[in-house]
Amino acid sequence: MNHIISIRDLDRPSIDKLLDQAAKLDAGPHPGKALSGKILALLFFEPSTRTRMSFEAAMARLGGCSIGLDSVEASSMSKGETLADTIRVVSGYADAIVLRHPKEGAARLASEFSAVPVINAGDGAGQHPSQTLLDLYTIRQSMPLSGISVGLLGDLRYGRTAHSLAYALSLYGATLHIISPKGLELPGSIVDELRRGGTDVREHADVSRAIPDLDVLYVTRIQRERFPDSSSYFQVASSYRVTPELLARGKERLVVLHPLPRLDEIDPRVDRLPQARYFDQSRNGIPVRMAMLLKVMP
Ligand code: NCD
Repeated sequence: MNHIISIRDLDRPSIDKLLDQAAKLDAGPHPGKALSGKILALLFFEPSTRTRMSFEAAMARLGGCSIGLDSVEASSMSKGETLADTIRVVSGYADAIVLRHPKEGAARLASEFSAVPVINAGDGAGQHPSQTLLDLYTIRQSMPLSGISVGLLGDLRYGRTAHSLAYALSLYGATLHIISPKGLELPGSIVDELRRGGTDVREHADVSRAIPDLDVLYVTRIQRERFPDSSSYFQVASSYRVTPELLARGKERLVVLHPLPRLDEIDPRVDRLPQARYFDQSRNGIPVRMAMLLKVMP
């Protein structure tokens, strides 16, 4: 089955192929109604704007339909139905399932019970492979993916987009500069694995030290919803901010990305600078997710 659960399920040639396909779709002409008659189920058990709407728009552009649930409360899971049973049922209604769930490992579990392909749209602090593909796609619009220096800034402990991206970049020989507030570092297990695979991972206490070396700065939001209590969140809230003054110390062709939503970690004055690519990045969700849908529902 053609599931996409973790970015680690894809090797470099299959990622390149997906990105090439997305670029073709982006350049048009659109492939007509390639998924006409197909149904995509969107099960989003955590908030979403971009991921949900861009999967839905991508499906519509390909001529297919979407059905969905937005919360556990609105589903029979509120009556005590298990995720496994929900997935068994929904896979009888649709040709593919996109699942976002607060628990790490939920998408993998769903794939074991589904009769149709499952795409992981975020499982707790785990992975977010479709985001990573559009991140790579956006970087590739500005520079070749091989051997670049990327700064990952922010909540690298709970930020699933950073986890998936770090693994994907390691396939392209990137140097990773990891910069996070105390307590929100990239999990040691991920760092060890990346280093064992030969990736150069450099830790910094402060983004201003790392900035001159970077080709890409990937900023993330502190994942407040994953904190055990609000006081531990407020200890780290607003502890970093990307400003035009900071960027002035970086390379002229630096690309600033953010999966969004942002809070205060990027100064709005940055939006007008050529380095700011985060709104293009969110727009790139459409061609990239179209390519993913075509891959899982051939
Ligand atoms: C991210 C997510 O859900 O992990 N959002 C997204 O899909 N663009 C990032 C976040 O919520 O901070």
